[in-house]
Amino acid sequence: MPGFELFGDAERQEVNDVLESGVLMRYGFDGMRNGHWKAKELETELQNQLQVKHAQLVSSGTAAVSIALASAGIGAGDEVIIPTFTFVASFEAIMMLGAIPVLVEIDDTLTLDPEAVKKAITPKTKAIMPVHMCGSMADLSAIQQICDSHNLVLIEDSSQATGATYQGKPLGSIGDLGCLSLDYVKIITCGEGGAVLTNNEAYYRNADHYSDHGHDHVGNDRGAETHPFLGYNFRISELHAAVGLAQLRRLNEFVTIQKKNYSIIREALSSIPEVTFRRVPEGGEESYSFLSFFLPDLEATRKVSDTFQENGIDACFHYYDNGWHYIREWQHLKQLKTLYPLSKEVVEGMSYLNGATFPQSDDYIGRNISCLIKLSWTEEQVRERAVKMVECIKRILI
Ligand SMILES: Cc1ncc(COP(=O)(O)O)c(C=O)c1O
Repeated sequence: MPGFELFGDAERQEVNDVLESGVLMRYGFDGMRNGHWKAKELETELQNQLQVKHAQLVSSGTAAVSIALASAGIGAGDEVIIPTFTFVASFEAIMMLGAIPVLVEIDDTLTLDPEAVKKAITPKTKAIMPVHMCGSMADLSAIQQICDSHNLVLIEDSSQATGATYQGKPLGSIGDLGCLSLDYVKIITCGEGGAVLTNNEAYYRNADHYSDHGHDHVGNDRGAETHPFLGYNFRISELHAAVGLAQLRRLNEFVTIQKKNYSIIREALSSIPEVTFRRVPEGGEESYSFLSFFLPDLEATRKVSDTFQENGIDACFHYYDNGWHYIREWQHLKQLKTLYPLSKEVVEGMSYLNGATFPQSDDYIGRNISCLIKLSWTEEQVRERAVKMVECIKRILI
């Protein structure tokens, strides 16, 4: 998946432009810049490529999620529904605002189960945040309908699925707000970075000001700008944006390579009747950054995962036993281990996690393996890998 596998002259040239002018900051210093505005340029290209009116670059995907929520006015005591299978950033970004993450079951899409979402809605619910894990997506039509009928904000976390589409539209452009991570291990990278996407002018303005200490960005004298509301610093640097600019121009090329590699492995695994694949909602087209499949039970899945590792099939994740992406191992969240006191509202709001069980998620994640699709493999390497994977799985299942 990661774009860093194919760094080249284009990335180097963009970074050199910034170093030659010496202006590493995205705002101000107009006279010294030699016309280089890499962050602004990348925002324009993201808007064009992801078919959205506004893109605000920020320092990380985690920041993007928090800024998206803040831009929609979500904060202290508000509930945000998220899936049990995600990255820890989802609940971190919500809790950063004093809001409450409400974790609900996933289904065979490996993302939010719309029925579980409906059951979790309370008068405090303000937003639903599907997280498009491992290159594919939630059932956005069903979730959009729920949002419409309960007047909730739809925030897509598309950090792991940049380049995928749903009913012809890029993921991240469909909800009220979309979030991307552009960190080092994403399909396209800035090194570190993220983006908030939206078609809503007011949300965009909020994201723009909030991510830069509340600066209103009117005129070209930063010191004279006003601050309509409190903000923080989640700015991206020009150096990071420069790398991302070159990478975004290669997004379609990266997706094409991934699709080719993914298809070879999927075809090979399809020869095993016990292997089933993650459901992609109707009208969805993956980014092909992972191939996710199910085995018959937890025990077989653990054994296949171990056998893959012993046989050099790297980057295949059995998230059931993983500390970063699945609720089972998030003891620090369940016990609310923080460096500082949390508000009474958050402590009470999260007490539902004490003893909570997620049998449906356990079933899907227990039987799932998600294998990263690399960009740098030769066709011969992919075919060899596919053969080895089939051998490993058959050895366990027979
Ligand atoms: C689904 C998801 N959301 C958010 C993030 C956070 O992104 P970042 O590492 O840029 O803060 C990640 C990072 O892995 C992610 O996978």
